[in-house]
Amino acid sequence: MELSENINWNEIEKSFGTPVYVYDTAIIDRQIKKFRSAFKNVNAHLKYAVKSCSNISILKYMQTQGLGLDTVSIPEIKMGLELGFKPSEMVFTPNIVSFEEMREAVDIGVPVNIENLQNLESFGKHYGNAVGCCIRLNPNLVDEVEQGQTGDLDFSAVNKEHYDEVDSVKVSAWHNQSKFGISMSQYDLLMEIIEKYNIRIEGVHLHSSHVILNKEVFVKGVQTVFEIASKFKDLRYVDFGGGIMVKHKTDDVVIELDDVGPLFEKEYKRFCERIGKTIEVWFEPGRFLISEAGFLLTKTTVLKTNGHIDFVGVDTGFNHLLRPMMYNAYHEITNVTNPKGELKQYNIVGNLCEIDNLGTQRMLNEVSVNDLLVIHNAGAYGFSMSSNYNSKFKPAEVLIHNGEAKLIRKRQSYNDLLANQIEIDF
Ligand SMILES: Cc1ncc(COP(=O)(O)O)c(C=O)c1O
Repeated sequence: MELSENINWNEIEKSFGTPVYVYDTAIIDRQIKKFRSAFKNVNAHLKYAVKSCSNISILKYMQTQGLGLDTVSIPEIKMGLELGFKPSEMVFTPNIVSFEEMREAVDIGVPVNIENLQNLESFGKHYGNAVGCCIRLNPNLVDEVEQGQTGDLDFSAVNKEHYDEVDSVKVSAWHNQSKFGISMSQYDLLMEIIEKYNIRIEGVHLHSSHVILNKEVFVKGVQTVFEIASKFKDLRYVDFGGGIMVKHKTDDVVIELDDVGPLFEKEYKRFCERIGKTIEVWFEPGRFLISEAGFLLTKTTVLKTNGHIDFVGVDTGFNHLLRPMMYNAYHEITNVTNPKGELKQYNIVGNLCEIDNLGTQRMLNEVSVNDLLVIHNAGAYGFSMSSNYNSKFKPAEVLIHNGEAKLIRKRQSYNDLLANQIEIDF
């Protein structure tokens, strides 16, 4: 996987130390361009998913590129407001939050996306037709997703037997037993609530979801949304969420935006003709824009051999990059200190008192103590999911822009660990 040619790793280490997250705006630009080019013929609006990497300098950079924000909490909205984003340039797409939190977002003027019938009913009771909202759907396409097949649109009832077999932790966003969205098996109830309170539905949302690797399935999801969206006379936009994957390994299969763009455009144009107006299309990409633009630079601290395994210990761990341990995610690792060294097999492990794998059975150019290793695809859900586990500091963050490396977050200090803690007397 590619390394950024704009980054001098030794200089970064010298100026900022390790571990450190480094982001490159040139790669962000490239990804924005790809997105815009794939959807150039639809009225597309990009709203960057703040949760993927929420540093305010990254958000500000997205603003300079004409993006809005997809937010999932009131503090994310507040960060956006402070940076000068208008409420209308944001969207609030939280999951499992109280209606009070939804109200706060509505009162600020941010368009809200409602993902459960309980909050929809509360919204109807509270606002009636006075304020518009968007509804997040879950299209029940799991079987097609798993089999890479498509069939007729099916808003079928929940299959209880299937439910019992499902491990709800692993269930993907388009599965009707996942916690996301309003299941199409509740379609009748959904419409009942909307009619009862005369709720103004201005948007219909479907998170594109990284499990969708098949363009036919993608199109079917799009058709599902348009089918439902056609029922709402106040419709202004459809929102296809985020979830567009990028490669973590060269042979990864991902959905190519250039392939789905024209298919999407066809459905979109047909839909606009059918309803007699041009609607906006919103996207909420996080990882597509920032995953490849971010790297975690770490230094090797300890080399050891246990049994037949050669371990490379580094000065970071799942407190800084959770994804390998949480999702078994593959993140390429490169030894930038010894790029021509002999290839050897290692397990790269973090420094937490815990099972802490960053990469197992990896072929790396021979590693020595104090070598610099770069962990790829670290921009999305890297720093933003970091913690202080083992009372270790969160790393610094650096942004490379126009060849200059700028600190955008200081490394934490001992005082940060104690902040908000209260020592009581006994
Ligand atoms: C509703 C919604 N929008 C956007 C995103 C961002 O997804 P990604 O970073 O995969 O593009 C997510 C991620 O879970 C989401 O649930």
